[in-house]
Amino acid sequence: MKQLHNNETIGDITMNYIMPSKISEEIERKGIIAVLEIEDENTAIPVVQALIEGGVTAIELALRTPAAEPAISLIAGKFSEMMIGIGTIIESGQAERIKKYPGVSFGVAPGTNPAIIKEAQQCGLPFAPGIATPTEIELALSLGCRILKFFPAEGMGGLSFLKSIDAPFRHLDLHYIPLGGISQENLAAYAKMEQILAIGGSWIANKELIRTGNWKEINRRAKAAQQTWKNIRGS
Ligand code: 3PG
Repeated sequence: MKQLHNNETIGDITMNYIMPSKISEEIERKGIIAVLEIEDENTAIPVVQALIEGGVTAIELALRTPAAEPAISLIAGKFSEMMIGIGTIIESGQAERIKKYPGVSFGVAPGTNPAIIKEAQQCGLPFAPGIATPTEIELALSLGCRILKFFPAEGMGGLSFLKSIDAPFRHLDLHYIPLGGISQENLAAYAKMEQILAIGGSWIANKELIRTGNWKEINRRAKAAQQTWKNIRGS
């Protein structure tokens, strides 16, 4: 992957990127991001342990439940190998609040909201907004974002759609994290596209598996996903 510097000049515009290259490179090394929707904070530690044992060491913990923030505080700073990303950052104040937890590395959102991106930038939270159209890519780019969550990936038309919307921006070397409808079945196809930084989804540790405490199955799915990524990307 081309180095993505914090600041870069395109023509006469200096962009202040909000995803430092050391974070984007770490996300790429991790490859697989397990999306977690935590309903009971007491499940946070066992699910993270099952993922780590299965080789998945990046999560997107979604701010969609009352248990989400208590779960962050339980795992924050406890697992040095786990890269913690926070998802569904859609309200003012959330970026600043979650940035304070030790071990939170990055944030993502389903959409491209300038107010949220600016807040992430101001509080120093590395951030990838969600995009699904060329207009959203342009908006995200104008706000300094070069690592973009492609959401909802399958719902929008999957890889062929992503290739089409990326084409006019190819010279800018944007990178994407597809999420939404990804599973063990279509994972390999996504991993083959060079512009994909990492792949995420809830299939590895979905709500049902977490609710029933099926750590064995989460561990099995994590291993399978990580192996597929490794087979294709070699790391
Ligand atoms: C997300 O927040 O990124 C999505 O809910 C992930 O989509 P999935 O549940 O289809 O994997």
